[in-house]
Amino acid sequence: MGPTRIGCERLRAKVMDADAAAALIEAGSTVGLSGFTGSGYPKAVPLALARIIERRHAAGEPFRVRVWTGASTGPELDGALARADGIEFRLPYNSDPHARERINRGEMEYFDMHLSQVAPMAWQGFLGPLDTAVIEVSGVLPDGSLVPSSSVGNNKTWLDRARRVILEVNSWQSESLAGMHDIYYGTALPPHRVPIPLLRADDRIGEPYFRCDPDKVVAVVETHAPDRNLPFAAPDDTARAIAGHLLEFLRHEVKVGRLPPSLLPLQSGVGNVANAVMSGLLDAPFEGMSAYTEVIQDGMLELLAAGKLHVASATAFSLSPQAAERLNADMARFRDKLILRPQEISNHPELVRRLGCIAMNGLIEADIYGNVNSTHVMGSRIQNGIGGSGDFARNAYVSIFLTPSTAKGGAISSIVPQASHVDHITQDVQVIVTEQGLADLRGLSPKQRARCIIERCAHPDYRPALDDYYRRAREHSYGQQSPSLPGEALSWHQRYLDTGTMRA
Ligand code: COA
Repeated sequence: MGPTRIGCERLRAKVMDADAAAALIEAGSTVGLSGFTGSGYPKAVPLALARIIERRHAAGEPFRVRVWTGASTGPELDGALARADGIEFRLPYNSDPHARERINRGEMEYFDMHLSQVAPMAWQGFLGPLDTAVIEVSGVLPDGSLVPSSSVGNNKTWLDRARRVILEVNSWQSESLAGMHDIYYGTALPPHRVPIPLLRADDRIGEPYFRCDPDKVVAVVETHAPDRNLPFAAPDDTARAIAGHLLEFLRHEVKVGRLPPSLLPLQSGVGNVANAVMSGLLDAPFEGMSAYTEVIQDGMLELLAAGKLHVASATAFSLSPQAAERLNADMARFRDKLILRPQEISNHPELVRRLGCIAMNGLIEADIYGNVNSTHVMGSRIQNGIGGSGDFARNAYVSIFLTPSTAKGGAISSIVPQASHVDHITQDVQVIVTEQGLADLRGLSPKQRARCIIERCAHPDYRPALDDYYRRAREHSYGQQSPSLPGEALSWHQRYLDTGTMRA
């Protein structure tokens, strides 16, 4: 590829600095950017665009853009553009604190959607045209095809749909990423859809590179900058207890023959509880495991290195700085066991259902009937977004949600009479685990679920109040299929807002 990593002469001729590239982006336009859970997002052009926006605002000129990404990005993208008040509308998943504040102040429109649906919806057209794609890649081949970076996300779709393309070629990313990706070009809209020919987590069904029409590329910017890698805290007692209950459940399912000894492809959200589960799997008796998931975090690399996991298929990395360094130093060893795919494929409901994924995701609150809120604090304030949790939860072989039983230092119960917002309906929630225990809800009626969740998952400080609520709901509810007292149920949240605690 040569020292510059831009092997294509036609594209080398388009190299310019980030300021010149960002100046090509127009106010009011729609920009499709790379980036997924803090990896593979453009590091220079969005920062330069934020500077342009600040200058325009200082001169009294309005300048905002519509931002489409893969999922969360980094401070140099969402952070910089949100601080500059440069985002008019954004989709999908966001975890940037500045963007979150703007959304919750009502200053920025946010369309939170299932991650598998972003690409097909962009193709359907009702989101409007895509003006510019800004995509980080790790190299350009002589024929102009692009070596993807540390995330794939929606990049294929942005490159195909955008009127014009700005590339960032990031030499910080390992050159050994080349060959790891599997870009499937067989998706179509109905009535032309065909089955996706992926039968196992380690199947490769596409090409290692993005196709890209060099005529559409208007700028190439060279960068050398790390991904936003956040350190993970070591799992605390709560995370270890949650992981312990879950691993016990999996061992039991294998013992009774409901899961094979190698389990089924694992899907795991990110964060400390997820990492504690991965650490627990290191010592668990399961061999030859696979992961068909959205992101590859530290614990999965450890499982791969230990030979417990034979493949991890995802759309992005989400690693701590230490794990990112380790991966970059040892990429050749890991490369054959890692596959990064477009998020449309990593999260595809058809594939999640076919493979029979074991879905493990976090939540904000669950109600006593097992409806889960993953996105809204107190029913109105967005935390991040639904991400891929809906893609996996509805279609999984076993859909598991993991959470501490309380939040905010014990002032809020994560188990409530009625969820203040519902992302996952009770039918999509089969197992709930807290540090208190595990509720296996499969095959249970709503009343049986309520008893099970209160007994096994609620914190002892909140159990009496939940018991009391449920008893009165049994006495006074309009119907007895899912007994509830709607006015009182939501007053739990009001109590926290009024007094700072949900306790009676
Ligand atoms: N009531 C009020 N606030 C709550 C709460 C509750 N029941 N539960 C959590 N919170 C708050 C926490 O206090 C914390 O707030 P802070 O940032 O002000 O401290 C914040 O929500 C995040 O909680 P945390 O305990 O750090 O949770 P986490 O990192 O495990 O994330 C979710 C939990 C639900 C936010 C996260 O899993 C998520 O975004 N899920 C949706 C997307 C998803 O599942 N993706 C995976 C698919 S691959």
